[in-house]
Amino acid sequence: MSQSTRLRIAIQKSGRLSKESQKLLKSCGVKFNVNEQRLIAHSDNMPIDLLRVRDDDIPGLVMDGVVDLGIIGENVLEEEQIERQTLGKPADCVKLRELDFGACRLSLAVPNEFSYQDASSLEGLRIATSYPNLLRRYMQEKGINYRDCMLKGSVEVAPRAGLSDGICDLVSTGATLEANGLYETEVIYRSMACIIQSTQSQPDDKQALINKILSRINGVVRAKE
Ligand code: PRP
Ligand code: ZN
Ligand code: MG
Repeated sequence: MSQSTRLRIAIQKSGRLSKESQKLLKSCGVKFNVNEQRLIAHSDNMPIDLLRVRDDDIPGLVMDGVVDLGIIGENVLEEEQIERQTLGKPADCVKLRELDFGACRLSLAVPNEFSYQDASSLEGLRIATSYPNLLRRYMQEKGINYRDCMLKGSVEVAPRAGLSDGICDLVSTGATLEANGLYETEVIYRSMACIIQSTQSQPDDKQALINKILSRINGVVRAKE
């Protein structure tokens, strides 16, 4: 694939970050229209293409240099970094800045009837998660052995379905935990959205465009503080 002369930015297709990511780029003066059926949205006033993909795919696309920039939760970024370091795959990217949306925490949670003292209450038990690497790092630090139950989605139903004893999942308002008869016991990682750039060297005009977007993002975020 030839290197695109247009700047490629990956954003989440649908989910907690997608609306805010689009809003941020629009407030930086990038004009585009999103067609829900299309993966790519071309900007009409700047040489920029938006790739609308699964959030979990964004860090890898940036680290492999497939896209130039990505807007992603720090939790997903860190998870992918540990995963790739473990596998010896390229895991480098540059975090340009933290953004002012996408606040969430990755937490351990257990069923309401579970009597929880501390993380050692989970010794030998099974924990469902979509973030096996962040969970492993935390449990290793605490010296606790547990068993994995890897689920890409619907993590919150795992205990009731008899798949696991507890979960390690993202919490934002806490509504999902409550609706599933679970309570939060420990926060293992706090996260915001951030914008990342690939480490690939860019032609001057493309890097100038990245710098322009970044300085506008700085202005937009600062204006709201
Ligand atoms: C997370 C998490 C819960 C929900 C929690 O999913 O998996 O489903 O948010 O939010 P709440 O505390 O406000 O109820 P999210 O949509 O972030 O990501 P995903 O689609 O990648 O699982
Ligand atoms: Zn996801
Ligand atoms: Mg979810």
